[in-house]
Amino acid sequence: MQQGLFEHDARPLEPPEQLRGSAIAESPCASMEEGLLLRPADMHVLITGAAGFIGQLLAKELLNDSTYKLILTDIVNPPIPAGVKYPENAKAITADLVQGGCEAVVESTLDAVYAFHGIMSSGSEANFELGMTVNVDATHALLETLRKKCPGVRVIYSSSQAVYGQPLPKVVTDDVIPTPESSYGAEKIICETLVNDYTRRGFITGFTLRFPTIAVRPGKPSAAASSFLSSMIREPLNGELAIIPLEDRSFESWICSPRILVQNLILTLSLPADAVPPHIRQINVPGICVTIQEMMDALGKVGGKEKLAFLKEQEDPVIKKILHSWPTRFDNSQALRLGFVRDDSFEQAVQDFKDSLQQ
Ligand SMILES: NC(=O)c1ccc[n+]([C@@H]2O[C@H](COP(=O)([O-])OP(=O)(O)OC[C@H]3O[C@@H](n4cnc5c(N)ncnc54)[C@H](O)[C@@H]3O)[C@@H](O)[C@H]2O)c1
Repeated sequence: MQQGLFEHDARPLEPPEQLRGSAIAESPCASMEEGLLLRPADMHVLITGAAGFIGQLLAKELLNDSTYKLILTDIVNPPIPAGVKYPENAKAITADLVQGGCEAVVESTLDAVYAFHGIMSSGSEANFELGMTVNVDATHALLETLRKKCPGVRVIYSSSQAVYGQPLPKVVTDDVIPTPESSYGAEKIICETLVNDYTRRGFITGFTLRFPTIAVRPGKPSAAASSFLSSMIREPLNGELAIIPLEDRSFESWICSPRILVQNLILTLSLPADAVPPHIRQINVPGICVTIQEMMDALGKVGGKEKLAFLKEQEDPVIKKILHSWPTRFDNSQALRLGFVRDDSFEQAVQDFKDSLQQ
């Protein structure tokens, strides 16, 4: 048995039936050597970009369950979320994944990796070199390190609906070919292709999750073109002004709440490796379609009508162009068949956020 940061329970269990004999199942990741892939007890998990919004959210959930032993890494010191039951199960490592940081954070005992590091859509459009190096080069370096140090490891890669560009059908199905209209979307599709090929070859067991826009996001506005979809709820609820960069209340967005995203991220840890073909690892994470008007209505209903006075509609042509290239409706039947869940309503997402302010 390999010894690393955390020890595995060495009881020899049968791997899940659906993995036996498949190309992916033959890859010798740390857990596989012990016959324990997908075993729900004692999972050793790396989260990159762990100081960011989704990394912190997921870490908080995983650290309330004694099963998970985490390495949290980011270019800035990743905090261990406050108030969790098992803070001692997390280790934080500050590392730049562009500058050789992968070696420092990848342990051979890893069972799973969530790859969340990145430069968001507006940021990647504003600084091409930064987007390319962080979103592509660092992800490639991470995959290479994983291939060598813990072959077969489960990798959950965070992609985005931004891989799609026009022309698009009214409803995007899994058959629609991604034609990104931003550097961010192009960088995501490059990494998706890497995840597919590394998985096909048995180097990793990859899953690419294409996230909808996640809202309502706490904290400060991000460098994402979609940042206003959270700001227009979060800022008014905090008594602050928010700018909507569009003057069209019928504009539709495809959204998922943080709570539902985390559920789907954790579910991906236990998906059978062959739930999707070895060379097509993308899954469109379920979302719901909401218009700006519906979002304003949800704000008014949950926060009170007076909060609407904190919204200012002021068109930004650069952001508008990116937003209009994105799809607004998806056919999520594949994901739902695999057990992924979706929000009941945007109003609930606003209520979740309001409740979080009171905690
Ligand atoms: N939030 C959303 O709505 C959304 C939607 C679709 C996809 N995604 C994807 O999900 C992932 C996580 O998103 P998020 O909202 O948490 O983003 P975020 O910006 O909050 O976090 C990204 C983290 O990556 C870190 N990082 C940047 N450069 C790095 C480097 N060189 N080395 C190590 N770490 C580095 C940053 O410090 C930051 O903490 C991203 O890859 C993003 O593209 C997010």
